[in-house]
Amino acid sequence: CGIVGYVGPKQAQDVVIDGLRRLEYRGYDSAGIALVADSALAVSKKAGKLANLEKAIAEQPLPPSHTGVGHTRWATHGAPNDVNAHPHVGHLHGSPDSPGAGRVALVHNGIIENFAELRSRLEADDITLVSETDTEVAAQLLELQLQSGLDLTVAMQRVCQQLEGAFTLVAVDALDPERVVAARRNSPLVVGLGEGENFLGSDVAAFIEHTRDALELGQDQVVTITRSGVEVTDFYGVPQEGRHYHVDWDLSSAEKEGHDWFMRKEIFEQPRAVADSLLGRRTATGQLQLDEMRLSDQELRDIDKIIIIAAGTSFYAGMVAKYAIEHWTRIPVEVELSSEFRYRDPILDYSTLVVAISQSGETADTLQAIRHARTQRSKVLAICNTNGSTIPRESDAVIYTHAGPEIGVASTKGFLTQLVACYLLALYLAQVKGTRFGDEITEVVTQLEAIPAQIESVLDGADSVYALARSHASARSVLFLGRHAGYPVALEGALKLKEIAYLHAEGFAAGELKHGPIALIEPGIPVFCVVPPQGRDQLHDKMLSGIQEVRARGARTICLAEEGDERIEPYADHLIRLPRVPVLLQPLVAVVPLQLFACELASLLGHDVDQPRNLAKSVTVE
Ligand code: G6P
Repeated sequence: CGIVGYVGPKQAQDVVIDGLRRLEYRGYDSAGIALVADSALAVSKKAGKLANLEKAIAEQPLPPSHTGVGHTRWATHGAPNDVNAHPHVGHLHGSPDSPGAGRVALVHNGIIENFAELRSRLEADDITLVSETDTEVAAQLLELQLQSGLDLTVAMQRVCQQLEGAFTLVAVDALDPERVVAARRNSPLVVGLGEGENFLGSDVAAFIEHTRDALELGQDQVVTITRSGVEVTDFYGVPQEGRHYHVDWDLSSAEKEGHDWFMRKEIFEQPRAVADSLLGRRTATGQLQLDEMRLSDQELRDIDKIIIIAAGTSFYAGMVAKYAIEHWTRIPVEVELSSEFRYRDPILDYSTLVVAISQSGETADTLQAIRHARTQRSKVLAICNTNGSTIPRESDAVIYTHAGPEIGVASTKGFLTQLVACYLLALYLAQVKGTRFGDEITEVVTQLEAIPAQIESVLDGADSVYALARSHASARSVLFLGRHAGYPVALEGALKLKEIAYLHAEGFAAGELKHGPIALIEPGIPVFCVVPPQGRDQLHDKMLSGIQEVRARGARTICLAEEGDERIEPYADHLIRLPRVPVLLQPLVAVVPLQLFACELASLLGHDVDQPRNLAKSVTVE
């Protein structure tokens, strides 16, 4: 979900709606706003995308106001309808279903786990709730605290003491028009610091238009913003310090800048994103360095096992990382989905390094996985794109990717920059462990530095990939084959199509074909084949055999192969040329045509490419 709060001289409605627009990628099942005006609440909320809310406000305007909160929802408890949309308002005793009757309006992200128990307590007290949400329970608890005479800050602290689960809450009180109060536990919230105005947001995109000074909050904290100040406490009122930081994203990075979709824009930003993620990684003496390293070289040398945890696209970056880390460091690496990790009782100890890969830094499954790892005394290193987010904060070391904000729900530049960070991590460990010589490391870094221009050359061929997408507009199923580092690329190519084109798409390890998936091949089925570079090993030959096997059964092969690879020609119904790069780095260039294909096909099919159905950019619930 996306959350915004504002207090200041501007029209709160404008600030909140603009903020929601920038956060809509976090959820778009419904949207809502609450403003404080003339000692009353003005609330508007609508199922569906933000545009529905804007239409409702145009038909029934809200009063001028300088204090407000807003929300875009990714539904957990209760269907995505108008009633369940946030904000939720408190009710006075005996007047349950007249919105606005109470003083408090609340928006929420997360899940309040003990809500059923709290709800029965309220109902026993003759308070009828109108929605099916856990949020309304919290709103009502706040209302009761306000009515008992507490101010909104103290009321929030008291309510948080009773809540279990994960939550970000942001509330306003109709009778206290200069204050917005928020709380967080295991769910994202940052403060935007302005002049004579202050902001709250699920992430900095909410307020980047107004300020780039931000305050990072810790766990279990309550924050009160007024026009002139920001006050942070714990749930018991004890003052706390937030960490100030400057946001180096500018507003243009949160705009489409002439592209039809954020996703397309982000695909084209990849050369820059990769280059930025490589900047400043070498010291004057040529040694590699990471962003935040709270582990000593000795601690790193003691690492005898690495477990990579991640979800979605980030998981596929982790699969590539396994190949790179094992190859360059000889440390065994496991890759595991965050959501599976802690439930299988993994074997961890102080000599295990857990690497969490997360674009957003907030994915709940990944966060809980690193917490589990820490309880087992393992070291945790995060690869993350979002400064101020929770996962890096709770890690011993961090490599930040510098992709800039990724707005399209389907990850593209996030993935490429994660790959870069994974290679850097592998090389860094090799440097510390001494498994590779300095000049070998320098050679790979130099190859990485050449990648942005090579991605650019792949992007120059976008039109022919778009034409390919047009000729596949009626495809019902698309398969992807890869080997070695090309296998995760095949999985990622398929995921992109599922996410945004809603097509049946599957990626396979080419060698596994004959053990089952080949039964899916029927005449005419399109099969993308990620062909490894021609090297001295047998990878390329083996891939050619796999391609022949599907072609013999009628598949139409679309082969991605490096320049100069002539042997592929007889086996390719369609050929996409890739720049020549070492096999381990090939995912950086090979995934790009697959992203372009998915983006174009989804667009042709008339889907909302940036906000695909049922998905959210950042899944902050387990
Ligand atoms: C969601 C998004 C995916 C993303 C995954 C992991 O499912 O829709 O695009 O890959 O979360 O997100 P993270 O922020 O942890 O990388």
